[in-house]
Amino acid sequence: MISIQGVSKSFGSNKAVDSISFEANDREILVILGTSGCGKTTTLKMINRLIETDRGNILIDGKNIRDQKPESLRKNIGFVMQHAGLFPHYNVAQNIAIVPNLLKWDKEKTTKRTLELLEKLHLTEDLLKFFPHELSGGQQQRIGIARALIADTPVLLMDEPFGALDTITKSAIHNEFKNLDELKNKTSILVTHDVVEAFELGHRICLMDKGRIVQIGAPAEILYHPVNNFVKEFFANNRLMLEYKIASVKSVESFLRKPLSLQAKEQLTKNATIWETLQIFSTDNVYNEDYDELLQAFNHYRKLQTV
Ligand SMILES: Nc1ncnc2c1ncn2[C@@H]1O[C@H](COP(=O)(O)OP(=O)(O)OP(=O)(O)O)[C@@H](O)[C@H]1O
Ligand SMILES: [Mg+2]
Repeated sequence: MISIQGVSKSFGSNKAVDSISFEANDREILVILGTSGCGKTTTLKMINRLIETDRGNILIDGKNIRDQKPESLRKNIGFVMQHAGLFPHYNVAQNIAIVPNLLKWDKEKTTKRTLELLEKLHLTEDLLKFFPHELSGGQQQRIGIARALIADTPVLLMDEPFGALDTITKSAIHNEFKNLDELKNKTSILVTHDVVEAFELGHRICLMDKGRIVQIGAPAEILYHPVNNFVKEFFANNRLMLEYKIASVKSVESFLRKPLSLQAKEQLTKNATIWETLQIFSTDNVYNEDYDELLQAFNHYRKLQTV
């Protein structure tokens, strides 16, 4: 668990982070969301001491990070930098192998894990010989993610890891990313300014503005129970889509007037969201009735959620 306790950081007279406190739990992805300049990167970098705090404490599993040498602290933290941060004079294979080499892994183990991660991140093996400048921005970012995941550290910090990806590649990767075995036993903090990404990936969302935390909570909590107008306005443009994306078919089942057809049920994955399911149902006329029925149930459900 990561515990941030009354932490502040100023650059000159600019209060980049202003007395923030929150916790990131084991096995969760906590998303820090906010507009440009609100203090997200500064917050993340203070956790692995790339930036030192002015005030307050940061504890990882109960240990104050100030009592540890930055180098030994960072051995337990996978870090994805905002702009990939690959070493330009190392090729992809060498970039990914930096931490395994520090840990003195044998070559075979490093290669095996590298290939596994490439596949999970939708990258091809031929990229291993390329240098960073020969890759697209999105490829560089995914190599950055592979590098952060390979040593299986207990903490993973990611700064806009999908920022350079197009919307289509992004949503293809989001689903698989969230279910990666590599994330299962970690405490992960992911920074983004993309509202939809925050809702697709975050178990909880911490919304920041001007160096402060405005609200922290599960996606449904933050959407249906905003603490003030700022929060409400922040999600206003995407609100309906976000509602479709966070509700699961399971959660609206009790509002179905009649059960979905067997054929439709076969299409459902475990924990399928309303959004995914309506998309599947909309592709074939045989699901017309199921589509209407599910939409009706969802509308009923959402009326009960809204404040
Ligand atoms: N090294 C620095 N020196 C001076 N000011 C800084 C430094 N790093 C950040 N800042 C300032 O601190 C504030 C917060 O910056 P930060 O990088 O944390 O924002 P961010 O939320 O990550 O923004 P973005 O979404 O654009 O990446 C900004 O006003 C920025 O100008
Ligand atoms: Mg940033």
